[in-house]
Amino acid sequence: MLRLGVNIDHVATIRNARGSPWPDPLRAARLAEAAGADGITAHLREDRRHISDADIDALMAHLQLPLNLEMAATPEMQRIALRHRPHAVCLVPEKREERTTEGGLDVAGRESELADYIGPLRESGCRVSLFIGHEPAQIEAAARIGAAVVELHTGAYCDLDTEARHAERDAELAGLAKGASLAHGLGLEVHAGHGLTFDTVGPIAALPEVMELNIGHFLISEAVFTGLDDAIREMRRRMDEARP
Ligand code: PXP
Repeated sequence: MLRLGVNIDHVATIRNARGSPWPDPLRAARLAEAAGADGITAHLREDRRHISDADIDALMAHLQLPLNLEMAATPEMQRIALRHRPHAVCLVPEKREERTTEGGLDVAGRESELADYIGPLRESGCRVSLFIGHEPAQIEAAARIGAAVVELHTGAYCDLDTEARHAERDAELAGLAKGASLAHGLGLEVHAGHGLTFDTVGPIAALPEVMELNIGHFLISEAVFTGLDDAIREMRRRMDEARP
């Protein structure tokens, strides 16, 4: 079955805008669980602009669902992950000036460094996932260094979802489909995420090799109007519709 991981970063973004204790990301995670989420994703950024160390402590202590900890491949983040040993660690590229994660990790260009980096995480029992583009060189490098999972970046596909750019969007979707098939063939579990909405989730959910989608910003945005429970249930419904 296709799993839905709900990314709760932007609950913390709203909280941090006022320095108040609410809305509480742990409460959002529990609500997501009740609405049918299969996992919770949280990105502990180096600048702590949304999720905080205390949020990770609380999620690890109280959450029943598996936690997918997104983080940059830095020594500090490795220490934090080894202390908590979440179900999964997803390595993402991180730049301070970016608004959100732009592009995938350059695994092919940093192969031996990343192989060394993920060694202790794998030994500690975390499933290591690498957030990458669908280029074959990146997927093959991920397989060579022993990652369990690749998460394919769907941001470009989502950004092209306008009337004028459907041909480019279809080409990007074809690239994602090829990448998913290559990764699966190399023994990697395939996840996908970034920028997904009610309108763009269907074709990605329909890719047979994709086992998990991680979705955040749109769900939290939609929750402002309909509540988180309805937003998650509707996303789940659309995923199930695309993958009967
Ligand atoms: N997957 C990864 C690796 C991400 O970095 C993000 C954004 O934090 C997401 C999924 C979720 O993206 P969005 O918030 O646009 O749904």
